[in-house]
Amino acid sequence: MSKKILITGGLGYIGSHTAVELINEGYQVVILDDLSNSSLDVLDGIEQITGVRPEFVKVDMRDKQALNQFFDNYQVDGVIHFSAFKAVGESVEKPLAYYENNLNALVYLLQELTVRNIRPFIFSSSCTVYGQADELPVTEKAPVKPAESPYGFTKQVGEIIIRDTVRATKLKAIALRYFNPIGAHPTAIIGELPLGIPQNLVPFITQTAIGLRAELSVFGNDYPTPDGTAIRDYIHVVDLAKAHIAALERLLNQSNKENFEIFNIGTGKGSSVLEVIQTFEKVSGQKLNYKIVSRRTGDVVAAYANTALANKELRWKAKSSLEEALASAWAWELKIRA
Ligand code: WQD
Repeated sequence: MSKKILITGGLGYIGSHTAVELINEGYQVVILDDLSNSSLDVLDGIEQITGVRPEFVKVDMRDKQALNQFFDNYQVDGVIHFSAFKAVGESVEKPLAYYENNLNALVYLLQELTVRNIRPFIFSSSCTVYGQADELPVTEKAPVKPAESPYGFTKQVGEIIIRDTVRATKLKAIALRYFNPIGAHPTAIIGELPLGIPQNLVPFITQTAIGLRAELSVFGNDYPTPDGTAIRDYIHVVDLAKAHIAALERLLNQSNKENFEIFNIGTGKGSSVLEVIQTFEKVSGQKLNYKIVSRRTGDVVAAYANTALANKELRWKAKSSLEEALASAWAWELKIRA
């Protein structure tokens, strides 16, 4: 009997792509989502791609009783925890909503797992924990800097909550520190759901190119970088999804070396905003309308990953290029606006 894996937030952007890869690898998947930032259409999309419709339960993880009820009804062999609010700017306006949803829910989830002795646990963390790293590419040993936003703080505290829980119980955990996920499944059946004005660069680019947005604002070209615009490590969401399978199997096979491990998940390559724009124009054949405006508060100059640890220990490496990732983002935009 194949193992059953719970994906919290499994109808979200990264969660849904991970569900597809888990099913492709033969796992049974049960998705828990509160639908606050996703849609049931995504469940149809996962079924369309894989031929398998994952079990789905609508649960608000801030509801302890509902979560307890879920675990009474479902026996799972491991958990990949995505569900959280993730908009940096919004977290500054609504810190308590972020602390409740990203931290209380994590505590309630870990309480269930430890009581029921469910051990393999994968946590969705973020390169945001590094702030502006002193050295680039950044390794997992880089110091965690004071968070620039409540969102970033919830990722830092989340890692500490897990570390302390692992020390006190039999939980085995891996935190994956994502860099910048972009793109969509090659079938263009699932992708990043555009709810409201995009906060992130790539969905804003594709919505500008398709005519939904008048122009892209480039937040600053006076950074100390080759072309003056900020640098990030943009990773194809399918590569990122596959890293979760590698991490989960490390724990299922008990080949973890520590009971709590942390890995950077990026490409190892930095790209500036202008480079992303130029690459997008090349792959899409669309001229992009943009203007340079002032810097966005809280942005770091540059962030890109040293991925040697994940490459070695997880035997995982990002395969898609920036071109391929941007082409998949554009194909997704064209599909949903068709
Ligand atoms: C990328 C670059 C912007 C929009 C955030 C979170 C991080 C992760 C990914 C969740 C920056 C510039 C952006 C725009 C622009 N999320 N930009 N115009 O801020 O690196 O990371 O999303 O895990 O935790 O912090 O991503 O896509 O917002 O910005 O010029 O309209 O594009 O200044 O340099 P970011 P982003």
